[in-house]
Amino acid sequence: MLWGLFYTFNSMKQTAPIGIFDSGVGGTSIWKEIHQLLPYEHTLYLADSKYAPYGNRSKEDIVALSKKNTEFLLDKGCKIIVVACNTATTNAISILRTQYDIPFIGIEPAIKPAALKTQTQSIGILATRGTLSSELFHKTAETITNGIKLTEVVGEGLVPLIEKGDFNDPALKTLLQKHLSPMIEADIDHLVLGCSHYPYLVPLLKEMLPEGVKIIDSGEAVARQTQAVLKKHDLLNPEQSSPNLQFYTNAELDTLQLLLKDYRNKVTIEKKNF
Ligand code: DGL
Repeated sequence: MLWGLFYTFNSMKQTAPIGIFDSGVGGTSIWKEIHQLLPYEHTLYLADSKYAPYGNRSKEDIVALSKKNTEFLLDKGCKIIVVACNTATTNAISILRTQYDIPFIGIEPAIKPAALKTQTQSIGILATRGTLSSELFHKTAETITNGIKLTEVVGEGLVPLIEKGDFNDPALKTLLQKHLSPMIEADIDHLVLGCSHYPYLVPLLKEMLPEGVKIIDSGEAVARQTQAVLKKHDLLNPEQSSPNLQFYTNAELDTLQLLLKDYRNKVTIEKKNF
């Protein structure tokens, strides 16, 4: 009897959605990797665009916003939460883990693979002020980059432009030129994207970086980690039917619709207050 109850409860959890949140639309770059690796999983994505960017907010603010998003996803019955935001991960995930009884997956800048592969002994990282000033980032960077030059640049101004969805705005190129110049001067051969919004800049970055500079982001690693944690907790969805792919934003729909245009027949995008 007890075993039967456990079995029913667990299979209900297995079919529950994966909850994902970001300060805005950027975490859709992570959602795409998760959906590609786990195509039968239901997902519920929160774009907290009304409060974006998180990058220049205080740690207290970032924690409060992350808790708000977590509680929304918990109310919707999510089985796991992916914090698809480097700024929220580096500032809030340890607090979330102590306060909520659900597995959390975070995203952190992939400096380790860059540090392992660099030939010039010089790598660059573009991330938000919130990520680069966090204790978690500092600790990781110190242990990994021993003897390697790490040029840290705050991607000031990039997130609001990406949130607008205008990738042809000349201001984007001007800002990137400014942000990339100290890295190019430092002869980097790897650029680490430390913000989930930035993968959408890859076409522009490729145009602007010297040939041979590799761009690294953490999206695929986060998807693999999500799969591993679901497996460990016996939470993978055994059903193989078309999943429910729900997106909520508390701002306008346009940029989400643009970034998800290849999935438009599969996803539902709605505006909601949260
Ligand atoms: N997408 C976010 C990150 O990965 C946050 C950007 C922001 O809101 O400043 O850091």
